[in-house]
Amino acid sequence: MKILVTGGAGFIGGNFVHYMVNKYPEDQIVNLDLLTYAGNLETLKPVEHKPNYKFVKGDIADRDFIMDLFEKEQFDAVVNFAAESHVDRSIENPSIFVQTNVEGTVVLLDAAKKYNVRYHQVSTDEVYGDLPLDQPDLFFTEETPLHTSSPYSSSKASADLFVLSYFRTFGLPVTISRCSNNYGPYHFPEKLIPLMISRALADEELPVYGKGENVRDWLHVEDHCQAIDLILRKGRIGEVYNVGGHNERTNLEVVKTILKALDKPESLIKYVTDRPGHDMRYAIDPTKLETELGWKPTYNFDTGIAQTIQWYLDNEDWWKNILSGEYANYFEDMYGERL
Ligand code: NAD
Ligand code: DAU
Repeated sequence: MKILVTGGAGFIGGNFVHYMVNKYPEDQIVNLDLLTYAGNLETLKPVEHKPNYKFVKGDIADRDFIMDLFEKEQFDAVVNFAAESHVDRSIENPSIFVQTNVEGTVVLLDAAKKYNVRYHQVSTDEVYGDLPLDQPDLFFTEETPLHTSSPYSSSKASADLFVLSYFRTFGLPVTISRCSNNYGPYHFPEKLIPLMISRALADEELPVYGKGENVRDWLHVEDHCQAIDLILRKGRIGEVYNVGGHNERTNLEVVKTILKALDKPESLIKYVTDRPGHDMRYAIDPTKLETELGWKPTYNFDTGIAQTIQWYLDNEDWWKNILSGEYANYFEDMYGERL
């Protein structure tokens, strides 16, 4: 297969590119990324010289560019990771989330329709809104109504509805995966886990929103990549699959786990003003993915966070280059082009 992976210079897309290029040497992986602040070609260093990998810089919302690319490359499948992904940024500037996450998805859907390409949308459990803390038996299923809280989750839910409409109206072969919070290598240090690791290592204060009671259901990125691969190859067309591994933790538990592993004091924790509209709890019921496709996560939170912390210790250059802005020079160095 020739597979277009969009957003492959970001956290999950980058891990997916590694996974696919190594697992399927007979497949061609084309990574399309705009290289926004979140895109980092250093993440692709381990695969950039593989014969079955190619990078293309471009915007999923640029219709002419996308149509030309689909005409030229004749893809068999597209997996769309490209997005603005950070909730706090969506509160500051919602419009770019509409542009990339909604308009970009519609452009890709139109291209997939025109060139008859299998389409997979990488979505999020945030489209279901949140669950209360005092009802631990409640979980998000694929039937849970969409009920979004932030401009980010609203843009992702909107994109999902377009994807499903292209199945119903045009018969486009689509699937959607909705996963819980990912963590693991190459996670951009604006998100909770890498932010706390990098700040704790520098003995800086760790900003915990509100009381730190909010619960997230942590999924190791490798387990997510495996789930997407399964859905792409064996998922039922027109279906949504939830991805999560029953690893709920409060934010405070996560931060304290990181501090303990790094032998840093809890006095680094600083409680700061809460995120507006902050979702209380996310928790995925992954029964459909497990029973239909046989998916099982390989990490639990204890093994996954230990591996992740070790990765950040072993790869200081990767995240320190981001914090210093240095990584933006990498594209220029590699391709002789100014970002
Ligand atoms: P990320 O922010 O790390 O990466 C996003 C990538 O998309 C970046 O490389 C960026 O340069 C690229 N991009 C942004 N706008 C683009 C555009 N217009 N055209 C082409 N490329 C563009 O995000 P992530 O955390 O890897 O998330 C990937 C996908 O998974 C997103 O769709 C997100 O909504 C979804 N998701 C993420 C999580 C999570 O925990 N990180 C959980 C559930 C779902
Ligand atoms: O559930 C899936 C979603 O997970 C994805 O769709 C999003 O793209 C991804 O960013 C993530 O969203 P969250 O808002 O849950 O992730 P974030 O890492 O920003 O925050 C995790 C929790 O930690 C959340 O309750 C807010 C809190 N937090 C976050 C930061 C950055 C803090 O307390 N302090 C912080 O500095």
